[in-house]
Amino acid sequence: MSLNTKKFINTKIIEIRKRVGRGTALCATSGGVDSMVCTFLAHRALGKNLIALFIDDGLMRENEAQAVARTLRKRGIKIIVVKAAKDFFKALEGKEDPEDMRKAFRNQFYKILGKAVKKYRADYLIQGTIAADVKETKGKIKTQHNVLAQIGVSPRKYGLSILEPLVTLYKPDVRKVGKALGLSNSIYGRMPFPGPGLATRVVGEVTPQRVRIVRKATVIVERELMKFRPFQAFAVLLNDRATGVKKGKRAFGNIIVIRSVESENALTAQPTRVPFKVLQKIQKRIVREIPEVTKVLYDLTPKPPSTIEYI
Ligand code: XMP
Repeated sequence: MSLNTKKFINTKIIEIRKRVGRGTALCATSGGVDSMVCTFLAHRALGKNLIALFIDDGLMRENEAQAVARTLRKRGIKIIVVKAAKDFFKALEGKEDPEDMRKAFRNQFYKILGKAVKKYRADYLIQGTIAADVKETKGKIKTQHNVLAQIGVSPRKYGLSILEPLVTLYKPDVRKVGKALGLSNSIYGRMPFPGPGLATRVVGEVTPQRVRIVRKATVIVERELMKFRPFQAFAVLLNDRATGVKKGKRAFGNIIVIRSVESENALTAQPTRVPFKVLQKIQKRIVREIPEVTKVLYDLTPKPPSTIEYI
């Protein structure tokens, strides 16, 4: 059945107002579609009693904190940027197993949110968890960063009461709600970006230096593939190395994977049929602009059996 967005928005506004009352709520926003739509919905309900919290975890895309803050401020939404890169890199130090990394990220994420809720005397944390996040976490495919109660972890552990207004929706409906809220296509139509950010695109230990490499490659992949409007396109840094020749000398460098997929709801996905010429251009730019990289690959694997992200 197709979603009646107006009715959905009105019901959620009433629900949020009823729960939060005259209190204050924090909304965790990462700049991805779900958290942005959630922030705007919560702002409709609470106005100046909503504070958007952007955790600058050192794992975001280039200039993301500034861009998200600008977008929200322009719409009159209070936003606080918490600088926490050091805490996240510390939490991820020495971890290579994907589930260990995801759980460490989640733990750090909620610790910071718990502290912020205390600091700003907020009564609720509102977050943009959607149906697919819960389904995949419960299905033990991977621990999404924003799923707690549904798998038996009490938000109280972090001193939080959580509201999840989008939790019944899948991505296409989240976008529809964003559109109905009057957001621009550049917000509701944006590529999904996972909460744990570039950490999901670094195989092996997540260090500032390795994140810097994948961040640079991400700028190139997004820029070159934007015109094909893929569901999601990004770069991944593998944990392997490959021999190359750089400036006439043998170099045992890093390997970057280009990942681009088409999907409706992120539960299944197909690789984008990117023209070979475009892939060659991306390869050339990555190898030229990122000295640490000696090899570039294109990922052909659909979901399933692969997932979209790499950890
Ligand atoms: P996977 O890799 O599981 O991703 O096929 C499905 C969709 O979810 C995004 N993703 C996440 N989003 N927190 C999020 O908010 C997470 O922990 C997370 N892990 C994956 C991914 O980018 C894709 O759109």
